[in-house]
Amino acid sequence: MHAPLPHDNEQLREQLRVKLFGHYWKHDLNDVFADVAPYYDRANVVASLGLWSWFLKHFLATFSLRPGQRVLDLCAGTNAVGIALLGSEPALEVFAIDRSEAMQAVGRRRAAARGLHIESSIGDVHRLPFPDAHFDIVTLQWASRHLRIEAVMDEVQRVLKPGGSFHHCDMLRPSSPRIARWYFGYLRGCLNLTAWLFRSGRAALGCRNYFIEALDKFYSAEEFSALLEKHGFVEVGHKRLLAGMVGLHRARKAGWAGPSTARPSLRG
Ligand SMILES: C[S@@+](CC[C@H](N)C(=O)[O-])C[C@H]1O[C@@H](n2cnc3c(N)ncnc32)[C@H](O)[C@@H]1O
Repeated sequence: MHAPLPHDNEQLREQLRVKLFGHYWKHDLNDVFADVAPYYDRANVVASLGLWSWFLKHFLATFSLRPGQRVLDLCAGTNAVGIALLGSEPALEVFAIDRSEAMQAVGRRRAAARGLHIESSIGDVHRLPFPDAHFDIVTLQWASRHLRIEAVMDEVQRVLKPGGSFHHCDMLRPSSPRIARWYFGYLRGCLNLTAWLFRSGRAALGCRNYFIEALDKFYSAEEFSALLEKHGFVEVGHKRLLAGMVGLHRARKAGWAGPSTARPSLRG
């Protein structure tokens, strides 16, 4: 593993992340997700020891939905977030964007099987194919480590309406080095187990170290809140689950768009 980052310097961190992982993001990740798409949802239930739906329940608790709101789910994968949001409020207009056709193909089937419609686009979230001030809510779950996150946050600011909210859930780097060491060891075991159980292909096998190193170089929950504030978000709050191994964030774009969509359940 690489030496720890100077966590006080976000720009340096982003440059280093791009230097270390840019190649994976550009050349490998799409093959990895094409490989894992058929078993992605089952593998996550196994790897999280059944906690996957518990994480989603906590994430859903950060939303306060109203009929007619327009929602964009970034890196939507198999549409877990869109399906769950429509389960809570069927009168939402939900858009999904993901670079992986294979993940979205599974997502479209999952939504259709529940009689739900999620408008799907295949594309890179660093350049969103949507007009300015278009969405009431933007969400991002389990994907921020794979992105040039500062560039994506600028796009999120652009497409959100004033007063709209951003909701984030991801595996993060625990701020305690002892817990982080234990966590990375556990994840290494999980990646090996799921690779064996689900007969992962070459692309997914080749990226096992990347998944842990990308997490090691990512933000803690507190640091991610600071990044959101730096990008102009207000009312930034976060909640740490499992000693910071998973972090939930919600933040609002400055301006007024009716009552806030974020529940005041997260600490600022
Ligand atoms: C771990 S999955 C998360 C899927 C989903 N959000 C969930 O909650 O299960 C990560 C997803 O991010 C997508 N992704 C990674 N980089 C991307 C990019 N630059 N643009 C769009 N999608 C991307 C992958 O294709 C994959 O579907």
